[in-house]
Amino acid sequence: MAKRNVALTVNGRAQTVEVEDRELLIHVLREKLGLTGPHIGCETSHCGACTVDLDGRSVKSCTVFAVQAEGGKIVTIEGMANADGTLHALQEGFREMHGLQCGFCTPGMITRAYRLLQENPNPSEEEIRWGISGNLCRCTGYQNIVKAIRYAADKLSGAGVKEAAE
Ligand code: FES
Ligand code: FES
Repeated sequence: MAKRNVALTVNGRAQTVEVEDRELLIHVLREKLGLTGPHIGCETSHCGACTVDLDGRSVKSCTVFAVQAEGGKIVTIEGMANADGTLHALQEGFREMHGLQCGFCTPGMITRAYRLLQENPNPSEEEIRWGISGNLCRCTGYQNIVKAIRYAADKLSGAGVKEAAE
């Protein structure tokens, strides 16, 4: 199978990776770039565990060929922390609000929420639920995920955090 070089900027770092046309972005991220934060749950675009940010949009990386990402800017959960190494407000929110249990959905969920808050910095509960509707969690019942995202929205806007975790 013919291979070609694909140039990507992943978590701020320019990289070139050799891929086959048939290779999915999730496999290239995990197996060739060592970024195992994005998970593989279904490989059929249903679960959202593989969600990454590509050129300012949330994408399910199991439904994108790596060659389609040529020249793209990708953010994964590995690139989410602040430059000084402290947690991103979303990571902190998931920790403080108990927004995870097994954690399998969490990298995709946080990466999706990252884009959601860029699109809508002050989302209502309903908007959060709609915004993460492409990401499935089999453990939490979503309640504390919603609180975690609200926590981050409040923190990023400079408002105090009001709700407690359940
Ligand atoms: S692994 Fe991509 S949506 Fe489930
Ligand atoms: S925390 Fe287990 S799937 Fe979401």
